[in-house]
Amino acid sequence: MKKTFFLFSAILAVTVSSVAKPKPVDPSSIWFKKTTEVINIQLSKAAKTYKPGKNPRSVNPDGTVRLAGITDWTTGFFPGSLWYGYELTGDKALAEQAKKFTLALDSIRNIKNTHDLGFMLYCSYGNAYRITGDKIYLPALQDGAANLYARFSPTVGTIRSWDFSWWHYPVIIDNMMNLEYLYWSAIQFNKPEYTNAASTHALTTMKNHFRKDYSSYHVVDYDPKTGKVLRKATHQGLTDESAWARGQAWGLYGYTMCYANTKNHKFLEQAEHIASFIMNHPRMPKDKIPVWDFDVHNALDTDERAPRDASAAAVIASALLDLSTQVKDGKKYADYAEDILKSLSSDAYLAKPGENNYFLLKHSVGAFLYNSEIDTPLDYADYYYLEALKKYASIKKIDSLKKS
Ligand code: GLY
Repeated sequence: MKKTFFLFSAILAVTVSSVAKPKPVDPSSIWFKKTTEVINIQLSKAAKTYKPGKNPRSVNPDGTVRLAGITDWTTGFFPGSLWYGYELTGDKALAEQAKKFTLALDSIRNIKNTHDLGFMLYCSYGNAYRITGDKIYLPALQDGAANLYARFSPTVGTIRSWDFSWWHYPVIIDNMMNLEYLYWSAIQFNKPEYTNAASTHALTTMKNHFRKDYSSYHVVDYDPKTGKVLRKATHQGLTDESAWARGQAWGLYGYTMCYANTKNHKFLEQAEHIASFIMNHPRMPKDKIPVWDFDVHNALDTDERAPRDASAAAVIASALLDLSTQVKDGKKYADYAEDILKSLSSDAYLAKPGENNYFLLKHSVGAFLYNSEIDTPLDYADYYYLEALKKYASIKKIDSLKKS
C-alpha cells in the first residue's frame, strides 16, 4: 500500500512539474521573431512596389527613392535581400519575387569596367543558385566571373577596381568582397587560376592597404606597368589617413572569407587584427553602430556631422559571425555580432512595418564628403543585415520561426 502510494505521488509530482513549468523561452528568439515579421512585411511590400531592373537603393533627401539601374554597383543587393528574406521567413512568395528581380539583371554578365561584378552578380545570381540549384542562373555567373578575372594583373598582383581616368590603377579595400565570387567560380567552373588571382589580390592588399594598427586605406593607386604603389588615399573616408568605417568592415569580411576559402592562416590573423581594431576602438559608440568614419572626432556627440553607418555595422556583424565559427575562442566575436544585431533590430534602426519606403534599416551613410546618401536607408545595409541574421539563426539553431 505504502509502495503504491509513493509510486503514485512520484508520478503525480513528475506530471505536475512538467505541466507547471513551461519550456523556458529563449530570450534571443523574441527579438529575432519580431525582426523576422518586420522583414517579411517590408520585403513583400517592396517587391510589389518596385520594378525588376530598377531596384530600391536609398532614399533621397526629398523623400523619393533612389533607384539602382542594371549598371549600378548596388543592383544585386535587392534581389539578394529577397533571397535571404525567403530563407529567413520561408515565405515562398518572396522566392518568386527574388527570381524575377534576379533574372532582370542578366545583362550584367557583359559588364567589363568594374570590380563590382561580385556585388552585382554573386549577391543576386549567386544566392539564387545556392538556394535553388537551378542551372538557369549559371551562364550569367560564368560570364561575370570571366570578366572579373580579366581585370587581374599579375604585374600589380591585384584586380583593378575602377576605370575612372584620374587614377592609374586604383584598388579599393571594397574589392576584397568580390573575391568570394572568384573563389566560388574557381570550383564551379573549374578555373583554378581564379583562386590564384583572388589569393594574390588578398596578399598584395594585405601588404599595401594596411597601417600598423590594422586600419586600412580606402584606395591604393598602382603603376600598372611596374606594380609600384603611387599613392595611398581615400575616396569616401574623412581623410587619406582616416579609418572609413565601411572600409574597415569590408576588410574584416574580406579576410575572414579568404581564410574560409583557403585555410591560409595569414588571412585569419589579418581578420583577427582588423576585428580587434574595430571592436576595441575608443570611438565605437555603446550600441556598436559606428559613425561613418572612426576618425570623426565628435563621434560620440549627437552632432549632425557624425551620423552613424548601419551598413558598416551590418557588414561587421556578418563577418564576425563567420569569424566566430572559424576560431577556438569565437564567442567574443559572436557576442559582439549579437549586440550589433540587437541594436539594428531596435526601434532606433529597424523600420516600423510599412514605413521607411519599405527598406529595413535606417541610418546609413554612402559618401559623406560628396554629400551623397547621408543618414539614409541603403540596399547593402539591408542585404548584410539579412545575411547576418541568417548566420545568427544558423549558429543559434533558431529555425522554428519559418513557415512550413
Ligand atoms: N563599394 C562602395 C561603398 O562601399 O560605398
